[in-house]
Amino acid sequence: MSIRWGIVGPGRIAHNLVGDFAHVPDATVLAVASRSSARADAFAAEHGIERSYGSYRDMIADPDVDVIYVATPHTLHHSIGLAAASAGKALLVEKAFTATLNGAESLVDAVRDHNVFAMEAMWTRFQPAVIAARKLLDDGAIGAVRSVQADLGVTRSFDPTDRVFAHELGGGAILDLGVYLVSFAQMVLGNPTSVSALGSLEPSGVDADVTFLLGFDQGGTATLMSSLHSPMPGHARIFGTTGWIDILPRFHHPNSFVLHRQGHESEQFDLPSLGSGFSHELIEVTEAIKGGRTESAVMPLDDTLIVQRVLEDALTQLGIRFDEDPAALV
Ligand SMILES: NC(=O)c1ccc[n+]([C@@H]2O[C@H](COP(=O)([O-])OP(=O)(O)OC[C@H]3O[C@@H](n4cnc5c(N)ncnc54)[C@H](OP(=O)(O)O)[C@@H]3O)[C@@H](O)[C@H]2O)c1
Repeated sequence: MSIRWGIVGPGRIAHNLVGDFAHVPDATVLAVASRSSARADAFAAEHGIERSYGSYRDMIADPDVDVIYVATPHTLHHSIGLAAASAGKALLVEKAFTATLNGAESLVDAVRDHNVFAMEAMWTRFQPAVIAARKLLDDGAIGAVRSVQADLGVTRSFDPTDRVFAHELGGGAILDLGVYLVSFAQMVLGNPTSVSALGSLEPSGVDADVTFLLGFDQGGTATLMSSLHSPMPGHARIFGTTGWIDILPRFHHPNSFVLHRQGHESEQFDLPSLGSGFSHELIEVTEAIKGGRTESAVMPLDDTLIVQRVLEDALTQLGIRFDEDPAALV
């Protein structure tokens, strides 16, 4: 049985990800939807996709589509997700899951009510290197985990026409890059008990840089930096009571990590990802749907909600408030 995918929003990430379906058994990209028929047709022609729609709504109504991949700007995820869930479609929603905590909660409620599979496309958690590092943590390779330090920065010139800088589209470093940092810390340390955020703003009112300090039970901490204007390496380090693990750049889709244990030589593990690294999350979703599951155990919706709460807290501390776009469905 082949799971039939539909892509909403043929932009940068959709172009980067679609080739990885070649590595996903039992999956076909059946359809693509754009706000413009010409863009949908062009994407379909380029990637050999059978059906193209000049309306998101029309593709969601296609009874042959099993799962929708939402690859639009952040403020559109919520209403596209709601429509897809009520049409009984499974969902893979690009990070950040939504632009607001309310939006995330209501989308999670909807997918649970409709009993459909849904997952945030946090591809980091499915990288072979990350899975192996987590296994070592579980086996106590660095003792009890105490803290996480990570950074992720890019250099982008301010461009008000780019969704990354657009307030109405949920732009800024927090939802684009900070989400990786917070999700990584949450994966390793659990649920934060406190959030402090410092940062600066773009002329459009979205955040340009943010540094998070998160507190966890039993004294755990995470120090996390992201920026749209600094070429940070994308390093993550996990510190325990008897050693540390360096996830080598860029930690959100790493190929290698180094285990440092007190009294031992350091050990490098090289575990490259398949394709461009998106194949692993696509396999997870495809297998879950085939198996009749409604959530991923690796990227559960409750973790997405915890992360979204931290992102919202940080945004509020910087004076930023986003709204979901209720008219996103064209
Ligand atoms: N996993 C990763 O590595 C990764 C990397 C980059 C981005 N992302 C995530 O992927 C999502 C999309 O990011 P992207 O960089 O691919 O964005 P993008 O290049 O701007 O593409 C977004 C697409 O959404 C559609 N869209 C609908 N309404 C829009 C609007 N008002 N303005 C602009 N586009 C609109 C557009 O397609 P049509 O108009 O043709 O429908 C556009 O091509 C975000 O959630 C982002 O965080 C993930």
